Amino acid sequence: MEDSFGREIEYMRVSVTDRCNLRCVYCMPKGVKTIPAREILTFEEIRDICSAAASLGIKYIRLTGGEPLVRLGVERLVEMIKAVDGIEGLTLTTNGVLLEEKLPGLVRAGLDGVNISLDTLDRELFRRITGFDRLDDVKKGIKAALYSGVKVKLNTVIMEENRNCLTRLAELAKDEPLDVRFIEMMPIGEGQRYGSISGEGVFSELEEKYGRLEPCFDRIGSGPARYYSIDGFEGRVGFINAVHGAFCGSCNRIRLTSAGFLKTCLCYEDGADLKAAVRRGDLDEVRCLMAEAVKNKPKAHHFALGPAEGEGGMNRIGG
Ligand code: 5AD
Ligand code: SF4
Repeated sequence: MEDSFGREIEYMRVSVTDRCNLRCVYCMPKGVKTIPAREILTFEEIRDICSAAASLGIKYIRLTGGEPLVRLGVERLVEMIKAVDGIEGLTLTTNGVLLEEKLPGLVRAGLDGVNISLDTLDRELFRRITGFDRLDDVKKGIKAALYSGVKVKLNTVIMEENRNCLTRLAELAKDEPLDVRFIEMMPIGEGQRYGSISGEGVFSELEEKYGRLEPCFDRIGSGPARYYSIDGFEGRVGFINAVHGAFCGSCNRIRLTSAGFLKTCLCYEDGADLKAAVRRGDLDEVRCLMAEAVKNKPKAHHFALGPAEGEGGMNRIGG
């Protein structure tokens, strides 16, 4: 499905819950209010929306949260979405804490890849950033994911706190076939309290240590990351210049919140509430609402000028 700026929209991020088992300082505010259970879409409702989306040209779905693995039985949802006609890829973004135990079921259900969020390899700093001493579980999750054969990417948000230990994270791509991606902090929700540090510093540190970072021109994944290969590295490093580099011109995505709102841009409240229509079982209406929302998708974010609209933090929007 094409939007009014000629962008092909083929990717939908689906938040399956706003809850999380971590409390990252830039994401989940202390005492965060959660959405009441009755407001959260059921698996069947999510499947129906994915199905409507697929009929409009969405090919790739990514499940996110909050933390998607805290939603009970999420493996069943994976299986249900994989069975939707037209869906070519289904991946999941997770903090990795529950990944080791959940992975076999997810792989059996047909999951194609995982993105694991990890901001540091330092145990104490991990605890300070996320509120919990669970770094070892995340490491086990990464191992399990690599072992299972699904595609693995790591997401690292750049902030002052982890700025001087980022090359160590990049080095995970040295011995393992995984991509490590550095993301600029976006001024969304709690993220507004943090400055956006550009990835350039990490880039030059890596070049200093490992020689030229060779840009990869083949398309990897369906997102905005720019990837580079490094001599002697199994995996690649990627940079998501969410704030400083404007990637909106090639944006291919929409987002569904766990409460059934279709968001067409991270930065604005634009979109369509699909919940009433999907609860009535009116999938034609769901399709119309989606098509109309995509037609009105904003041209670009304004993160360089100021914060995102609305109160929803990343735990509600799903990253
Ligand atoms: N800016 C950039 N990335 C963020 N994430 C959460 N909040 C922000 C923010 N304000 C990241 C998480 C995770 C992904 C889903 O989004 O660290 O990697
Ligand atoms: Fe949870 Fe991810 Fe938010 Fe951290 S960034 S609190 S892991 S949803």
